[in-house]
Order: sequence, then structure tokens, then C-alpha cells
Amino acid sequence: MKILVTGGAGFIGSHLVDTLVKDGHDVLVIDDLSTGKKEYVNKKAKLEVLDISSPSLSKVVADFSPVVVYHLAAQKNVRTSLENPMLDAKINILGSLNLLTQAIKNKVDKFIFVSTGGIYGDTDILPTTEVGEEKPMSPYILNKLTFEKYLAILSQGKMKWAVLRLANVYGQRQDPYGEAGVISIFLDNVIKNKKLYINGDGQQTRDYVYIADVISALTKFLSSAEGLYNVGTGREISLLDLLAAIKKISGREPEIQYRPAILGEVIRSCLDFSKVKHDLSWQPQYDLKQGLELTYRWFKEKR
Ligand SMILES: NC(=O)c1ccc[n+]([C@@H]2O[C@H](COP(=O)([O-])OP(=O)(O)OC[C@H]3O[C@@H](n4cnc5c(N)ncnc54)[C@H](O)[C@@H]3O)[C@@H](O)[C@H]2O)c1
Repeated sequence: MKILVTGGAGFIGSHLVDTLVKDGHDVLVIDDLSTGKKEYVNKKAKLEVLDISSPSLSKVVADFSPVVVYHLAAQKNVRTSLENPMLDAKINILGSLNLLTQAIKNKVDKFIFVSTGGIYGDTDILPTTEVGEEKPMSPYILNKLTFEKYLAILSQGKMKWAVLRLANVYGQRQDPYGEAGVISIFLDNVIKNKKLYINGDGQQTRDYVYIADVISALTKFLSSAEGLYNVGTGREISLLDLLAAIKKISGREPEIQYRPAILGEVIRSCLDFSKVKHDLSWQPQYDLKQGLELTYRWFKEKR
């Protein structure tokens, strides 16, 4: 099948492309390489280095004529979205709309959008289901939510769609720099004998889902299921518990420095995955220990 993957040079996208290629699909990656890496793009996939908001996108989509589009390309830095909301909207709203309109025009069968569980913001209802209240706390999250709604409205009667709201994904190839996932930052720093910083008291919780589980969920949507789905583990892990697990796996005792809590940071987050389990028989196969061990090994070998 012809499949277009935007953001296919990034952390999640490159793993997705590897699996799609392995399954025999014809894959085109569109990525501007702003955070992604060319060397992560599977050699059997085609790579078009392009910004999704570029007018040239129309020709690229028409020439390839995909059956399915996975949309992962995004400006995903929350701080950047707060400091430069116009830039975030240009990529995450206008760029995404550019892709969506081309997908509809070229009669794509299904559009799969990778969104975030961050949409639920701070909530007391945990694990949170798909009907949980939407409380975006940054332009990045607001724009994810807005595009989810554009997708549902504009696709009506024209194209199948699915939105996957992911929990905190971790694993091999995740960038440990800048505003990255805490697991990649902690593992990288532990290996380099650097200090670890904890903002606040470390009691804040997240739902950490391993990359291989995310890819198995994403690929299940190729053949069936439409609509909005959470993808997470349903397990709340505090930062201090995460730290304890990392110490155990690495056998190291990193220096810890506590810093003031970040204003507006979500305190607790955890996704209920009953819907995807019911509809697609998907459930996570890796617990935190297994996923951390595999990720730690990769970061160590990479050094
Ligand atoms: N990592 C997580 O925990 C997580 C959680 C929820 C949702 N997501 C979403 O998953 C998607 C992938 O995230 P990731 O963690 O793999 O990040 P990533 O930065 O590794 O991947 C994003 C990719 O998009 C590309 N890109 C950025 N702007 C672009 C543009 N204007 N045109 C073309 N390509 C562009 C980047 O070069 C990169 O390869 C994003 O949409 C992100 O919002 C990630």
C-alpha cells in the first residue's frame, strides 16, 4: 500500500516507517529535518525534505497519490509555542491544513493524526478516557486539539480518519536535547555522569509508553477503526519512581538537584486505553522496566 508519513525522520515517525517498510508498504516520508535525522529514515522509503506548510506539498502528494497518510510532523516544543505562537500555528495548524486539503483532494482513503494526551491538561479523573474534558494549557496543545476538530469536520463524507492521543512516549532514537522526553534526558545524563534536575517535588506523574507499543497501535489503525483513541498504559508513574527505576537499571547514583516547579506544568497525567483495547485488541506489551532497559542499552551503545 502507498503510505505517506510526515515527520518520518523523527523519533516516532522513523520507527513507524521501519515497520511499514518491513510489512511491505511503499512509503514516502515528508520531513523538513528540523528535529528529525536523515540517517533515521529507512533506506527503502523515499524521503522528500519539505516543510508541510510549503506550497510544493500539493505536487508531492499528487505525484505519490497515497492511500493512507500518517501525520506526525509538528512543532512540538511547548516553550516555543508559548514564545512564538505564530510559528506554532503556521506549522501545526496551517501546515496540517495544507496536508489535509491535499489528502482530501487526492482521494486518500484514511488520515491518521498523531495527537497528544496533553489535551486533558490537569484533571482529577485518572486514568482519563477520550470523553475527558479538554483543557489545553499551551498553544502547542491548543493547536493539536484544533486540528483534531478540523480533521473531523473537513473529512466528513470524504475520507476516513483516526486521531491517536499518545501518552509520554519513550524509547530508542528519542532526542535527549532541548525540551525532550524526561526519560531520554535522564538516561543520557546518567550515562554521561551528569546531574539530573527535578522540577518541583518529583511527585508529578506521567504515563510512559514504550515506542514499540506505540508503533503496534499506530499500525493497527491501517486496516480498521476510525475516530478518537487514547494510546497509553493506564499506569501513573511519579518522577521519583522513574528515577528509582533508572538508578536500578543503570546501577548508578546520579547527583540530583531540585528546582522550583514549572508554572502551569500538569501535575498528574495518565490515559485510559480501554477503547483501543476493545476495538483493536491493542494493549501495551512492555512494562516500564523492560522498556527502560532496552532504551538504556541503546543510549549506552550510541555513546
Ligand atoms: N514524543 C512524545 O512523547 C509524543 C507524545 C504525544 C504526541 N507526540 C506527537 O508525535 C509526533 C512525533 O513526535 P516525536 O516525539 O517523534 O518528535 P520528533 O521531533 O522526533 O519528530 C517530529 C518530526 O517532524 C519533523 N517536522 C517538524 N516540523 C516540520 C515541518 N514544518 N514540516 C515537515 N516536517 C517537520 C521533524 O523534523 C521531525 O522529524 C508529533 O506530532 C508530536 O506532537 C509525541
